[in-house]
Amino acid sequence: MNTDRRTANAYPSESLETVTAEPLMSRDYDSRPALVFEQLRTKYGAVAPIDVLGVRFWLALGYPEVLEVLRNQHGIWSKRLDDWQAWREGRIPADWPLRPALEVNHIIFAEGERLRALRTAYAEALRPFQDASHVQGRRLRATVHRYADELIDVMTEGGGTGWADLSAQYARPLPLMVVDELLGFEDETGDDVLMDMWRVLDAGPDSIAALDRLLAALARLGAAKMARPGDDLPSYMLAAHPGLTIDDLSRELMMCVGVIGDYIGVLIGNTVAEVLTAGSGVRDSLSVGMIRETINRVAMLNPPMANLTARCPSVDTRLGEVTIRAGEPVMLSVAAAHADPVFADGLHPDALYSSRAHLTWGAGPHDCLGRELATTVVTIAISRLFERFRGLSLTLPADQLPWRPSPLIRGLRSLPVRYELAPQPVADRTGERVQQSPSAESDPRPEPARSALWRFLRSFRGQR
Ligand code: HEM
Repeated sequence: MNTDRRTANAYPSESLETVTAEPLMSRDYDSRPALVFEQLRTKYGAVAPIDVLGVRFWLALGYPEVLEVLRNQHGIWSKRLDDWQAWREGRIPADWPLRPALEVNHIIFAEGERLRALRTAYAEALRPFQDASHVQGRRLRATVHRYADELIDVMTEGGGTGWADLSAQYARPLPLMVVDELLGFEDETGDDVLMDMWRVLDAGPDSIAALDRLLAALARLGAAKMARPGDDLPSYMLAAHPGLTIDDLSRELMMCVGVIGDYIGVLIGNTVAEVLTAGSGVRDSLSVGMIRETINRVAMLNPPMANLTARCPSVDTRLGEVTIRAGEPVMLSVAAAHADPVFADGLHPDALYSSRAHLTWGAGPHDCLGRELATTVVTIAISRLFERFRGLSLTLPADQLPWRPSPLIRGLRSLPVRYELAPQPVADRTGERVQQSPSAESDPRPEPARSALWRFLRSFRGQR
């Protein structure tokens, strides 16, 4: 990054096309994004011109500015990709790495009547799962609980002490299993779909073929739910929005795979890392059962969606000290907004009760509709982990944990820990009493139906 110091308001009236933009992605950004945000804030103020892998954006860093765009009280900000001038004019390179994340046109990029109809469908379809008084809600909680225990059983098959990667062996597979459950796969394809989701989310060499298979599987699933509705998310969405075509539905299901399958795992990993590295205040908060408060605090310190996909104004508009031209894209940095002194100075660093005004779940007309579901799954995941293990400690210094290089997500690539199982049975802090299974050495469990995923998870033992 350029180190010459300019005052805030360096380029108040230049267009995004002519201004010198700062590359966002760097080794510094991967390891310490907060430092990069503070350098940008010092140099530009609340809104900075950035370059994301070859494409220019304004980045809103100030809490009031991010909130103003999220709220969109004057209705000038749009998430529709066609309202982004460079996209509409075909000036975004075909091989831009973020393209695949933006190209599937689902609710995140909807506005107007389409947005309203989709939000109603999501709210209706998610309600039974988010509401603990509903049979689906209770069943989902019990299932997540069982999956968490199964994953811990597999992880500890080698004995009561050892080491594990809590990201690959717990935080990532657990939410993928939730996707499988919520989407209502009826046969063994659920297992293959899970593995393909993993490949797509990792954006590895086989991700393009995996994405094709995934979209095809979601279209087949959508068609099956149209023919034979069940007690699952796609069937409830179709019931709430009968106008959805198979194509519309499979695009929305793709969005669900991302938010449920990835972001929940990111929040689980970030929460475990925070608990293992923070002072005793955070561990004590777990021991008195305040897991939700801890998750809220972690979500604020390290939001899984660090930066949100862009909005473009329909008219030239002032944001902070900058004039944004109509059609120019503005990314919103939730992570930087939370570090803005305007917001952060109101919080004591050791405060047990964190501010509810954080923007981790968004705000305004696009705010998150799955917050309760996400918090429920993360709460059960964290609870089972700290109940089943007497000892958990990082095998790396906290500042050497590997983070995923991503302009949007702040999540760990791996979370290596040393563990020691607790004696059993144990109480579950979500309120339920559970009988913990004995170790698999003395009581091997039957091979679960999800054999490909299980084979993959068991392969970690060979890598110790
Ligand atoms: C830790 C997990 C999650 C986090 C941090 C999160 C965060 C967010 C944020 C920040 C937004 C706003 C995006 C924007 O304004 O650009 C959003 C939107 C959304 N979230 Fe979540 N989310 C999570 C999990 C979920 C889950 C499990 C669901 C369930 C399906 C869900 C459903 C949605 C939907 C449907 C929207 C789009 C709303 C719209 O564009 O109108 N989210 N989420």
